[in-house]
Amino acid sequence: MARAKPRAARVERIVVENARVKTFMFDLELEAEPGQFIMLWLPGVDEKPFTLSYMPKVGVSVARVGAFTQRLHEIREGEMLGIRGPYGRGFSLSSSDADVCLVAGGVGAAALAPLAETLKASGAKITTVLGAKSASEILFENRFLACGEVLVCTDDGSKGRRGSATALFSKLLESRDFDAVYACGPELMIYEVARLCEERGIKMQAAVERYMKCGIGICGSCVLNGRRVCVEGPVFDGKTLLMSEEFASVRRERSGRLTRVQ
Ligand SMILES: Cc1cc2nc3c(=O)[nH]c(=O)nc-3n(C[C@H](O)[C@H](O)[C@H](O)COP(=O)(O)OP(=O)(O)OC[C@H]3O[C@@H](n4cnc5c(N)ncnc54)[C@H](O)[C@@H]3O)c2cc1C
Ligand code: FES
Repeated sequence: MARAKPRAARVERIVVENARVKTFMFDLELEAEPGQFIMLWLPGVDEKPFTLSYMPKVGVSVARVGAFTQRLHEIREGEMLGIRGPYGRGFSLSSSDADVCLVAGGVGAAALAPLAETLKASGAKITTVLGAKSASEILFENRFLACGEVLVCTDDGSKGRRGSATALFSKLLESRDFDAVYACGPELMIYEVARLCEERGIKMQAAVERYMKCGIGICGSCVLNGRRVCVEGPVFDGKTLLMSEEFASVRRERSGRLTRVQ
């Protein structure tokens, strides 16, 4: 299987996952761990990071949020794109973690679905808290259901419990304990999940996002309190994130300007 060498890959299949997200499956296999990402190059447009939502057969699941992702959503099966990677540190797993919880918010489910499948293969009991703004934005519910119990919540109450993934996770902790918790989603959600785990002494890891340009530790655009998210992350443990003053507080835009995390 291929490793980090840049290569051209053909989009074999495009799956419309929900109102905002499409999955792009490529004619390429990569050795990768859940939580690692690739840099995807759209010729003439830009290059951006995306978590591998499928592996070893490469797939990425992309929410349409701005110019690059809008253009990506317009491409057709058969087109060629550039891929570099996989990059970064994925989730580190321990065979002694028998009862685990995944907390996914929105497109964050893209990083956790392959993790759920890896954990299931190792025999772990998996509970997933799957949150989205509304029923039409829930991602990979069937993949998580194939791995264990799934508790759905939506901000508008259109499916599952009304409210945030954090609120549902907090409620769950009143009756359950876990060996480990893995999260991916909005930064404020990850912060709160890390805080709840820290209070209870539960091991926690999360995949985080920062603006990336090079993806290989050279440009410094992704730095989070001195740590290059593209190399030392994107997966960090909860303690590290809670100690990081910038996490869930400020992020660097493309220009380098710092803006508040919403
Ligand atoms: C390691 C990593 C893995 C990622 N995996 C995925 C994935 O699996 N699926 C997916 O849809 N997206 C993922 N992203 C985010 C993705 O790279 C951005 O959504 C994409 O760059 C947006 O490009 P754009 O030109 O469409 O939007 P832009 O015009 O760049 O941005 C539109 C809006 O999204 C915000 N935004 C842009 N980039 C980020 C970011 N990195 N984090 C948070 N907000 C951002 C901007 O502030 C702006 O408000 C990942 C990012 C990183 C760093
Ligand atoms: S993206 Fe350049 S150092 Fe991380």
